[in-house]
Amino acid sequence: MRALIKTTIALAGLAALSACGGGASEDSTGAAPSEAAVEPSVEVAFADVTGDPAAGEGAFGQCRACHSLADDGPGVGPTLYGVVGRPAGSVAGYNYSEANGSADVVWTDEVLFEYLGDPSGFLPGTRMMIPGIDDAQRRADLIAFLEANAAE
Ligand code: HEC
Repeated sequence: MRALIKTTIALAGLAALSACGGGASEDSTGAAPSEAAVEPSVEVAFADVTGDPAAGEGAFGQCRACHSLADDGPGVGPTLYGVVGRPAGSVAGYNYSEANGSADVVWTDEVLFEYLGDPSGFLPGTRMMIPGIDDAQRRADLIAFLEANAAE
């Protein structure tokens, strides 16, 4: 029964997707500007967006399953307490992948902004298997929240 429900949801999702695609191609003639607007926002610079920590707290729901924000032991992922400004792979006792553990990277806000847009593109081989966050504003909100949280 569970499997059946899942399949139905997946099919509904597919139907919605194709309905969406059909709509887009029908009025593609004058659609150049709006197409540009839905391009993945990897091109948006961090300096161009102002993060909102309150919105970032909500967005952090997407990270919470794997990351704690407490200055305590590791979960599935390393704690993100104080991550802004921290060198990659530096949480003591956390068993990082080679990719993340030996990355020569400091998680400044600009670097996090880029990483969160495409984690496995930025750090090939990382065990953080989440899709990139296309929405630049959402990434900036998350970073603002992470920064504010550690400052408390
Ligand atoms: C499904 C679990 C999972 C989710 C969800 C997840 N992460 Fe991760 N994350 C990981 C794992 C595992 C690692 C360690 C990766 C490695 O060692 O390759 C990691 C590593 C990181 C690192 C590098 C930390 C360091 O000390 O070098 C950052 C930054 C990070 N995650 C941010 C986030 C943010 C922000 C979110 C929410 C948008 C998020 N992660 C969601 C599992 C997850």
